[in-house]
Amino acid sequence: MDKAVEELDQAQAQVELARLAQVLAAANAAYHTLDAPEMSDAEYDALKRRNAAIEALFPALKRADSPSDQVGGAVASGFGKVAHRVRMLSLENAFADSDVSDFDERVKKFLGIAQVSYTAEPKIDGLSLNLRYENGILVQAATRGDGEVGEDVTINARTISDIPQNVPAAPALLEVRGEVYMSHADFADLNARQVARGDKPFANPRNAAAGSLRQLDASITADRPLRFFAYAWGAISQPLGATQLASIEAFKHMGFQVNPLTALCHTTADLLAQYRKIEALRATLGYDIDGVVYKVNDLTLQERLGFRSTTPRWAIAHKFPAELAWTRLLAIDIQVGRTGALSPVARLAPVTVGGVVVSNATLHNEDYIAGRDSKGAVIRDGKDIRIGDWVQVYRAGDVIPKVADIDLSQRSDAAQPYEFPTLCPECGSPAHREDGDSVRRCTGGLICPAQGVERLKHFVSRGAFDIEGLGAKQIEMFFADPDLPVKQPADIFTLALRDDANPFKKLKNRDGFGEKSATNLFAAIEARRSIPLDRVIFSLGIRHVGEVAAGVIARHYTTWPAFEAAVRVAEPGNPAWEDLLSADGVGAVLAQSLIDAFKNPAERAAIEALAAQLTILPVQARANIASDIAGKTLVFTGTLEKMTRAEAKARAEALGAKVAGSVSAKTDLVIAGPGAGSKAKDAERLGVALIDEDAWIALAGLS
Ligand code: IVH
Repeated sequence: MDKAVEELDQAQAQVELARLAQVLAAANAAYHTLDAPEMSDAEYDALKRRNAAIEALFPALKRADSPSDQVGGAVASGFGKVAHRVRMLSLENAFADSDVSDFDERVKKFLGIAQVSYTAEPKIDGLSLNLRYENGILVQAATRGDGEVGEDVTINARTISDIPQNVPAAPALLEVRGEVYMSHADFADLNARQVARGDKPFANPRNAAAGSLRQLDASITADRPLRFFAYAWGAISQPLGATQLASIEAFKHMGFQVNPLTALCHTTADLLAQYRKIEALRATLGYDIDGVVYKVNDLTLQERLGFRSTTPRWAIAHKFPAELAWTRLLAIDIQVGRTGALSPVARLAPVTVGGVVVSNATLHNEDYIAGRDSKGAVIRDGKDIRIGDWVQVYRAGDVIPKVADIDLSQRSDAAQPYEFPTLCPECGSPAHREDGDSVRRCTGGLICPAQGVERLKHFVSRGAFDIEGLGAKQIEMFFADPDLPVKQPADIFTLALRDDANPFKKLKNRDGFGEKSATNLFAAIEARRSIPLDRVIFSLGIRHVGEVAAGVIARHYTTWPAFEAAVRVAEPGNPAWEDLLSADGVGAVLAQSLIDAFKNPAERAAIEALAAQLTILPVQARANIASDIAGKTLVFTGTLEKMTRAEAKARAEALGAKVAGSVSAKTDLVIAGPGAGSKAKDAERLGVALIDEDAWIALAGLS
């Protein structure tokens, strides 16, 4: 008999996870690859649930090859998944010169020092890759994926000549990060070959590089010349140097390609000069770059600056201005999103912008079309946008193209101002604008089919339920299906039962489905029946509750019953409300939105129906935080002399603590510098522990 999950200690959990990974992988292989199942579905599901429950209790033990990440036929058909040991982050963007000086000011203010040096280097327009070397041997290459989990492309990466297989000078563990890209010359060659073969050419070198790296057949990758620049690192057993520049230099000595335009800068003026220099050379480089990346050079300072949720505080990408093109606006369509927002979309005569053919662009909202920004201020000199106008479109990075300007001299006399609909084009319900909101929203809620289908698409999206084989396309099909309808999330989990009950119209006999794909779909749905709390909260698609907020809320309440009970009773000002707001990053707007969703009878019923179908797994406080102050509430008072308040707060939060503004019975620790007044007295009165700055520095692991 298996031991109950709650009774396992850490070592036993690790052994059990290894066993389950092996058993489930064998069962998967028998099922998908050999098509010869060796255990019943119920047994298989029970093992999978056991695995997920152990992972929820010991998140740090989750394996890179965890069965939870391998749904349905994915193992046999796609790439293996790799959980990154150190998250792969993105960068904040700067556009104007003033954004760069603001960044420098922010860094100096955070650190409380007068001058900081930076490296400046080209931002390569390719895709990032993590290369793992153990004892100098390349053992794994993984794409960025969602930053937490990427795809295993080791075999393909081995075909890239810029990537050394052996690095004798490497420390025992070295993860090198950098960009895979394709040169302009190789791109032109490849596209010529594609066309000659009757295949579709790639839109740009970035797409060509991505398509080439993510080939299941590595011989195709080998046939397409890819290159690699090293510019960062992940997990390492030993520092590469004391500075960013020294670390890059170390990469060079190890045999990696590093960008020759990397320079050390000491002032904002230096940074901007390097930016202008790189921008001037851009057309001659022979590969695509889309900006210049600035990084704090001193690694001790990088460490002190740390991270926000998805970006480091110590780096920024200064983007080149977007490419522009003129074309004709053919029509304006209104799309209704998951939260009911009416979004105007420009349908354009196709035009090439920065190597990509654009035929749609966002027009943001009705104010933007009328020539006003979200605060009511005049934009484009007040020129409104009319159907038939010549419009200027631009693309910045991967984002949706936008309309920047219009050419009044080309406007026909017959052109009429655009009238934004006040009724939802999908369900006919009134569409309202709230005070101070530039977005008009359909008030139809769950009766609006557009909102319904968009919510379901969100429900199955990557950070939410992420059900293999159930994407946007299948959701649209099931939503409109008279025999096997899916109108709300709970319906997904009754699909198999309903299909069983309907012998004449089986899913497996329909177009686009067969025995295997229908079985796989039901298995993929079943595999998600037990799911961690954070994913459930995110999946509900509540306005203002994104993935990061959902994680924060889940870690705050840890279980579904606790979360649900709290949200049900919370009202502005009461203790449940105050408790919700004490979660890091949860503000009044988000809290109210959450409460409203649970108050609305129809939404509530949908949420309850869903919860009844699921085993919602508890979520623990962040696994990688094993500090003495994790989970504690801290108050800083008086003057800190060795770090700024901002740094102290960020450091405390990174260690899993909460920082509060005033001392109460809930406070665990007060850090008092010189000049501490009433807060130190409050601490004494309430018997809360009080320490000085030196003791704090030691506690924070900085001494
Ligand atoms: S540093 C923690 N340096 O830009 C920061 N990124 O927008 C790690 N990129 O995902 C990234 N050139 O794919 C860095 N010289 C460079 C880069 C660079 C291109 C990409 C990278 C990253 C993305 C962030």
